Amino acid sequence: MSETDVLTPTADVGGPQQPLLEVKGLSKHFAVGGSMFGKRSTVRAVDDVNFAVHKGEVLGIVGESGCGKSTTARLIIGLIEPDAGEIILDGELVGSTVSLRDMRRAVQMVFQDSYASLNPRLTIEDTIAFGPTVHGLAADKAHARARDLLAKVGLDPAQFAQRYPHEMSGGQRQRINIARALALAPRLVILDEAVSALDKSVEAQVLNLLIDLKDEFGLTYLFISHDLNVVRFISDKVVVMYLGEIVEAGPVEALFTDARHPYTRALLAAMPSHDPDARTQEAPIAGDPPNPIDPPPGCRFHTRCPFAEAVCSENAPRLTATGTAGHSTACHMVEPASGHTKAPAPAPAEQEIVECPT
Ligand SMILES: Nc1ncnc2c1ncn2[C@@H]1O[C@H](COP(=O)(O)OP(=O)(O)OP(=O)(O)O)[C@@H](O)[C@H]1O
Ligand code: SF4
Ligand SMILES: [Mg+2]
Repeated sequence: MSETDVLTPTADVGGPQQPLLEVKGLSKHFAVGGSMFGKRSTVRAVDDVNFAVHKGEVLGIVGESGCGKSTTARLIIGLIEPDAGEIILDGELVGSTVSLRDMRRAVQMVFQDSYASLNPRLTIEDTIAFGPTVHGLAADKAHARARDLLAKVGLDPAQFAQRYPHEMSGGQRQRINIARALALAPRLVILDEAVSALDKSVEAQVLNLLIDLKDEFGLTYLFISHDLNVVRFISDKVVVMYLGEIVEAGPVEALFTDARHPYTRALLAAMPSHDPDARTQEAPIAGDPPNPIDPPPGCRFHTRCPFAEAVCSENAPRLTATGTAGHSTACHMVEPASGHTKAPAPAPAEQEIVECPT
């Protein structure tokens, strides 16, 4: 790879219509247990997950703790190997037509813990310059790039370049992690709870910075968060996960104003409101999430769903289009003729044709 390559994002192969990232049939099951007396069990952390992120878009991933958000991110970035499924970057299969190394440059990640992500012994400038240097950029150019990026994330290089992580605030450290992620000219940045640990005012500043950087560098984001207010603010589309599966997906407004899955509706009901009259103290979802080691059969939400019927524990619902373009829900109440009493009638084309007796 030449020096210029390190400073330029990898070329757009498929044009604006082709998703930057496609995830197809992605699964990761972890084997746990297996002591002398216990049997080995399987955590179904990610189970047949499918989605696409288009160029320039922000796709939000939401869901309770343990639903598989970070595992999905780690699979995409190649930190762990999937048991099944494909990761496709701008039309090219990762590990086949596009190498893992090229993918790791094109896709960067920012984590929640700003301090743990930084080497305490490296100055800020060295931290940001490290990646480009490893990828073959001359040290002077890598350091010039680091200083340039520091300015782009709102930190004056003259003041901050020679500091160490412990001399910075949480918000400043997260700006450095963002600068470090941008140092390899990525196309996709995965932000895994990247603003969750910050105070509200600092969080708002970092979110605005992310939006500015996205426009300036032509980036695409996968934005993982448990905070629905933040996801609504930054995302174009949203995926809702429950126990390793996608239960609802769609454009952000459709998701927030016309959610169809009882789990999504419960998450929305639990959102802290800025309006004191609209605040609810009620626990919106009954019970704890079931153990991902032994997810319930059929719809995994049936143990907590107020609308569950017999069919819900027997058959797994399929993601079904709801009407709004790109909005789909995996619930028997949405799937035509699913056997749920609230299910819509089958579409006319699928109805059995009863011939008139002659
Ligand atoms: N290396 C591992 N070995 C065993 N189980 C794991 C491993 N990594 C994740 N898990 C399990 O997989 C499930 C999904 O975890 P994951 O970290 O993806 O959830 P998450 O949605 O990111 O949660 P959080 O909101 O708390 O960050 C959890 O039950 C978790 O305990
Ligand atoms: S499929 Fe059944 S249990 Fe699952 S969310 Fe829909 S109604 Fe509830
Ligand atoms: Mg996580």
